[in-house]
Amino acid sequence: MHPDSQLDAAYWQQRYLAGQTGWDTGGITPPLRDYFAQLGPPDARRILIPGAGRAYEAEYLHRQGWPNVWVADVATAPLQSLHQRVPDFPPQHLLQQDFFRLAPTPAYDLIVEQTFFCALDPGLRPAYAQQCAHLLQPGGTLMGLLFDTEFSQPGPPFGGSREEYREYFAPYFDFVHFDAATNSLPPRRGRELFMCLRKRAQ
Ligand SMILES: C[S@@+](CC[C@H](N)C(=O)[O-])C[C@H]1O[C@@H](n2cnc3c(N)ncnc32)[C@H](O)[C@@H]1O
Repeated sequence: MHPDSQLDAAYWQQRYLAGQTGWDTGGITPPLRDYFAQLGPPDARRILIPGAGRAYEAEYLHRQGWPNVWVADVATAPLQSLHQRVPDFPPQHLLQQDFFRLAPTPAYDLIVEQTFFCALDPGLRPAYAQQCAHLLQPGGTLMGLLFDTEFSQPGPPFGGSREEYREYFAPYFDFVHFDAATNSLPPRRGRELFMCLRKRAQ
């Protein structure tokens, strides 16, 4: 978290308590569900969902049988929601921690992004890309959705463009896919990039 940021744990916790969670889709979104479907059968891969909120992706993967799904969020309310919805989700995999302070050992194989990047102070974007690379194994994957649009209201969410984002990720990742999502939820259609980036060995 940025030391000067107003977007701290208290801010996000208050948004959940006040029900001001317009980003919350109430379930897994089609681009993530379709991506997970082609991962093959569950195995020991370590999957991290940072800024996970209520973490419907973690619920989905857990119910599919993936044993190593980790969820990080600074706010307690959404983690409690996951715990209540999925009581057998391993409590030690619920990390109430700042993403930027997560430890890289053991490294993760896959990081899943959805409306976390756009919720951060835009000044943190280079650090986000660096931390994702730091947390992943060489060859590990950062995948998910980024908004490829500007918003008329002050953020969060903060918008941007794929050209801008490329600069943050290019130092660490090869671009497997970085193009308009084809299966976004209707309110996000035409405004989302689907990203699949592979961490380079060095
Ligand atoms: C816009 S919400 C998105 C939540 C979820 N990804 C979704 O799609 O429903 C952003 C989330 O990031 C969390 N968050 C913000 N800053 C964070 C940080 N530095 N580390 C971890 N979580 C953070 C907030 O508490 C909030 O749950």
